[in-house]
Amino acid sequence: MIITLASSKGGVGKSTVTGCLAGVWAKAGNSVHIVDLDSNRTVSRWFKDDETRPKGITVSTPDPTKLTDHLAELAATAAPEIVLIDVAGSYEQALTIAVARSHLTLIPASPTEADIFEASRVARHITAVFEAFQRQPLYRLLLNRVPTLASSGQLHTILEIVRLRLPRLKTRIMQRAAYEELGLSGLPPHFADRKRPTVAKAVEELEQVREDIEALFATTQTISEGAAA
Ligand SMILES: Nc1ncnc2c1ncn2[C@@H]1O[C@H](COP(=O)(O)OP(=O)(O)O)[C@@H](O)[C@H]1O
Ligand SMILES: [Mg+2]
Repeated sequence: MIITLASSKGGVGKSTVTGCLAGVWAKAGNSVHIVDLDSNRTVSRWFKDDETRPKGITVSTPDPTKLTDHLAELAATAAPEIVLIDVAGSYEQALTIAVARSHLTLIPASPTEADIFEASRVARHITAVFEAFQRQPLYRLLLNRVPTLASSGQLHTILEIVRLRLPRLKTRIMQRAAYEELGLSGLPPHFADRKRPTVAKAVEELEQVREDIEALFATTQTISEGAAA
């Protein structure tokens, strides 16, 4: 299964969600490969240490213009069960290729007007590209960094999402220290100290995200069929 994390905006949580979801499936015993297309190499940095990088997670940093070949080679060699593609912002060719090769595209956005607006632009872009090929992409908005204390502004944003008819994953990822710490420790919540409440809550949330994603595929294919598409 290939999942692309896409957004034209930086700082929305593409790399964080990529790293956290890698942790979810690696902990479940799946082989997970992250394709880091961001020139900032954020995820690669987080997972660069062979000693601390969770077992089951590998990372590559191919030239974004060679993504098609890279994915074909991956499928033919390591054949990871889950491939997560962390795409840099902007409407590059790599975004289009990544989305075309993915079973699902997740567009992270915090519940702010600016993020939701950007997310809907990405969704429109993806849809327009696919229409040219008479296909429909499977994408979902993923609300991230949701403040734990809900405000009326947040409610307004959620209603706006509905108005814009942006399909979204049911589960929301809250603003939590456990997510921020991935950038410091290189440990996704599933591999961090679960005795800490922030980690335990993040693990619970991420398991729900996994359920949401697996439910999306339940009728078409199962996770174990792998990324060889
Ligand atoms: N759910 C969250 N809770 C707390 N901090 C978060 C969360 N998601 C992302 N962050 C923080 O926000 C910043 C930007 O996230 P990042 O994943 O690097 O975004 P992007 O890859 O889209 O540019 C990072 O410092 C990260 O730690
Ligand atoms: Mg990033």
